[in-house]
Amino acid sequence: MQETLKIAVQKSGRLYEGSMKLLKECGIEVSNGNNQLRVLAANFPLEVFFLRDDDIPEYVQDAVADIGFVGENVVRESNKEITIIEKLGFGKCRLSIAVPKNGKFETLTDLNQKKIATSYPLILSGYLKEKNITASIHEISGSVEIAPRIGLADAICDLVSSGSTLFTNELKEIETILLSEAVLISNKNLSAEKKLILESLLFRIRSVKKAKNNKYVLLNAPNDKLETICKILPGMRSPTILPLAESGWSSVHSVISENDFWNAIEKLKAAGAQGILIIPIEKMIL
Ligand code: PRP
Ligand code: ZN
Repeated sequence: MQETLKIAVQKSGRLYEGSMKLLKECGIEVSNGNNQLRVLAANFPLEVFFLRDDDIPEYVQDAVADIGFVGENVVRESNKEITIIEKLGFGKCRLSIAVPKNGKFETLTDLNQKKIATSYPLILSGYLKEKNITASIHEISGSVEIAPRIGLADAICDLVSSGSTLFTNELKEIETILLSEAVLISNKNLSAEKKLILESLLFRIRSVKKAKNNKYVLLNAPNDKLETICKILPGMRSPTILPLAESGWSSVHSVISENDFWNAIEKLKAAGAQGILIIPIEKMIL
């Protein structure tokens, strides 16, 4: 019988949608119609466990699950014996220290000898130590953002994504202590067969990620400008150039990374490119 790889994903919360979307983009069908906690993928040797995110690192360490999709913040706080295999590019957020908007604290130093409420005592204490700040850490598991208003703490340390929770609670960020996103974690002692399944899943994940970071660019260029334009667009090998029906013009096809994108588009226009089309890429196999 072929083995299956057991993956833990968040049952509900900030990473649920992104995790399911990634599996789908990897061509793996997981139907969770009946809100089941355990689902076998239809077309890949994968079994999905839906769990509370805070429990995922421990379950992966203890081999209840082989791998997991979970926030880096949860991994760092849990401090378990697991391996981070890959950043997944979704669920981006940060762990920050925030204080009341119109209060007397402005900087981290102002929090010396004060009280900070958080669900991340381990990461926070490490950070304060590094910065030589002595503050008392008050651990609470939820609704951290109301702590200053009810007199529980002077400041908080919590996850910030859109910032709307801080805004509605009249708090302002004064220090970012960790940038986080969803990561793929693995148990340290996978069997050879499970390692092979993981390799195959990773290959798909990397192809999806690469495609997201790149765009397909299609444009028209006068032939005498081709050389300049090709220098702006290196492409995977070199751009594909096809003659247009209108003489003296060519169509140029290439791939460009998201990071270089706006910069390159301006240069392309300045160099005489016209009819520029930017097309999303679905998968990229190099
Ligand atoms: C976090 C955090 C804030 C909120 C911030 O909770 O505790 O309440 O998200 O997001 P915002 O900046 O977009 O408003 P999370 O959803 O991770 O829930 P959990 O702590 O219960 O896992
Ligand atoms: Zn959580």
